[in-house]
Amino acid sequence: MVHGDFTELSARDVGGIIQRGGTILQTARCAEFFEHRGRLKGLRELNEAEIEGLVVIGGDGSLCGAHELCGMGFPVVGVPASIDNDVWGTNMSLGVDTALNTIVDAVDKLRDTASSHQRAFLIETMGRNCGYLALMAGIISGAEVVLIPERELALEEIGRSVKEAYARGKTHCIILTAEGSKHTSAELAAYLDAQEVGFKTRVTILGHIQRGGRPSAFDRLLATRMGVKAAEVLLDGEQDVMVGLQGRRIVTVPLQEVVSTSRQANLEYYEMAAMLAR
Ligand code: F6P
Repeated sequence: MVHGDFTELSARDVGGIIQRGGTILQTARCAEFFEHRGRLKGLRELNEAEIEGLVVIGGDGSLCGAHELCGMGFPVVGVPASIDNDVWGTNMSLGVDTALNTIVDAVDKLRDTASSHQRAFLIETMGRNCGYLALMAGIISGAEVVLIPERELALEEIGRSVKEAYARGKTHCIILTAEGSKHTSAELAAYLDAQEVGFKTRVTILGHIQRGGRPSAFDRLLATRMGVKAAEVLLDGEQDVMVGLQGRRIVTVPLQEVVSTSRQANLEYYEMAAMLAR
């Protein structure tokens, strides 16, 4: 947008992409757009190309940019897409379910080695400052310990939990840690090995495999519903809003509210994970 690099797409141009991850648009974070001058340049390019409205698909940064553009008088509707699930105003952002399925699949595979060799596996998920992915993956993959930024644990507490798991006769210990957690994975592994917790520790950082691959059925349906709603509300003249999933419905939420509120992992689930780990 900032560089006026527009291509008109017809329905045929988007055929055959429903099963692909990533973006055919090659859109990415844009340092220029963080500055007012960059946004002004984008606005001029939009006007010159006679574009009348935008649907902005992305996470926190993209939605902030969308809101700024609305403040400059251009109609924009946001669609939440971020594996972190940290966007306020929607139960789920696009990509979260696919990422979660990738994580669970990886944990299932890692558990095979963990059980065979009595190991503790420290598995690091993405999520920036939000523990959603690690917490949900912890519950649905039966992790012994979950570490998230919203509920920090001291190294001693973590060591105790791992030792207890060993003492209870568990054949493995899965520790799901969010990238935003207080202690780095390397720090934790070094600590556990020095403590002689029973298990030998191995670290796996899942990294960008969480951001790619075939979208899950849930994500495909949610993306379709959100996309349709975004186009409908934009055509109806609504703007400066984001579409979001609330309950069973796709609703609109003011972008002002979305960008000024942060969403964190729900700690009720943390208690559930701890209870199930016993
Ligand atoms: O916001 C999505 C996310 O994947 C985060 O979970 C992660 O911290 C970050 O982006 C990684 O960004 P990059 O691809 O620039 O390394």
